[in-house]
Parts: sequence; C-alpha cells; structure tokens
Amino acid sequence: MLSLATIVYLLSALNKMPKQLKIEAIVPAAGLGLRLKSKIPKPLVLVNDCAIIIRALRVISSHPAISKIIVLTHRKNLSEVKKIIEKNKIPKVKCTVKGGLTRRQSVQKGLAFLDEDTDFVLIHDGARPFVTKEIISRAVLGAQKYGAAVAGMPLKPTVKRVKESKSQRVKGYFVEKTLDRRNIWEIQTPQVFKKDLILEAYRRIKDKTATDDAYLVEKLGRKVSVVEGSYFNIKITTPEDLVFAEAILKVSKCQSVKVS
Ligand code: C5P
Repeated sequence: MLSLATIVYLLSALNKMPKQLKIEAIVPAAGLGLRLKSKIPKPLVLVNDCAIIIRALRVISSHPAISKIIVLTHRKNLSEVKKIIEKNKIPKVKCTVKGGLTRRQSVQKGLAFLDEDTDFVLIHDGARPFVTKEIISRAVLGAQKYGAAVAGMPLKPTVKRVKESKSQRVKGYFVEKTLDRRNIWEIQTPQVFKKDLILEAYRRIKDKTATDDAYLVEKLGRKVSVVEGSYFNIKITTPEDLVFAEAILKVSKCQSVKVS
C-alpha cells in the first residue's frame, strides 16, 4: 500500500513532467501529377509494388511523435486513395479529404482539420515516398527549438540564373549569373512548424507563388531552421523520377541503405 504522502509526491512529480507535445501531420497529395504523364493517379503509382503515397504514409504513421495524419487528395482520386489507405491499414490517417487547386490551397484545407490542442504541424508532400523516421525526428527537434524547420540538402550541381532572350539578333537562353552553390540548398519536406506560427503565416501572407510552407513563414520575417534531409528523399515529379525511385529501392536492398 502506498502512503498518502507517497501518492501526493507522485502526483506532484507527474504535474512537473514536461507535457508530451502533440504533433499532427498534413500530407498534400492533391496535384494532378500531369508532369508524370501516367494514366494512374500519381499517389497510386506503384514503386516496387507499393503506392507512392502509402510508402510516405507508412513512415509518418510509424513515427511515435506523430498522433494523426490528414491526407489531401484530388477529388477525382478521393475514393481510390481512401480505399488504398484503408486496405493498407495506416492507423493514424484520420481523414482523407479533397484538396484545392494549388498546393497552398490543399495545405490550407488540411490546416482546418487540426485538433485544437495540437502544438506542432508536420507537412510532407505525398509525392516523397523515401522520407525516413530519422529525417522526421530531425525536423521535429528543429521546430521544437526554433519554431520552424525544414529538411534540406546542399545542392551538388553548378547553378546559373538563365534568361530567355527573344530579340531578333539573339534568340535563346543566356546565362545571367553564376550562383555560389555553397549557400544554395535544395529544400525538401517534411517541414515542421509551431501550429500558431503556420496558421498565422497562412492567414497573413497571401502570396500565391509559394511552392512550400516555409516560404510563408519566411515572409513573416521568422527564422526557419534547415535540418539534414537526404538525397534519397526525392519528389516524384517526372517519369525519370520513377527510374530513380526503383534504383533507390534496389540500392537500399543490396546494401542495407535505409531509405524509409
Ligand atoms: O506540384 P508540386 O510537385 O510542387 O507538388 C508537391 C505536392 O503538393 C505533391 O504531393 C502534390 O500532390 C501536392 N499538391 C496538392 N494540391 C495541389 C497541387 C499539388 O496537394 N493542388
């Protein structure tokens, strides 16, 4: 039998314990995927017998810090995507709903499904099947420290700004400037934010050119931390990316490289 004093002590210790932060995930997968030129909707395209979106959702769902996943999909694929998620039994996907006309609109719709008491939001493109639990952990830790964190990798190629000339004398594309690649990183998802920060960014910044969520937070003038992503964490966009995806899976099997 515990004494009353012990019970009082244990209860007060419990109160002092840091509260487990609640993190929910939004997975935008509502693009039409036209650049992939596939008859099958992009989220359902198989890479080595597993749909692209299922690979991404399995990793997010298996991460202990994530409590719920909201999936956005194109209205044309809604029932098929719902079905495949159910079939694969991904427990943390609590709602699969219609996205919007742009990525921004899709994420904005997802934000409306967050629980009131969520502390952080992880946003991950459904078109990136090779995210890993380690990348998610780094992004979550970065966001807990700085409020906003994105996964990224230093760019490997030489990068130049190129402009099209349409003058009669010289037609074509010409180099305007060579950029210093030491400061240029490719930014990926996951991107993780304090919930209030990302809600404020979406409410206040109306810029429609945003291709990721961090851009809106940057526009608020807030710091966005960059954590290590992976060169394997590719976004499936064009048919070549499917070739790279198969190669990534092959190398991960042969050399026990962990890609997801
Ligand atoms: O078009 P982009 O490659 O930048 O798309 C990144 C992610 O955003 C993809 O997973 C895509 O399905 C999603 N998206 C969306 N709603 C749109 C357009 C894109 O959820 N209207």
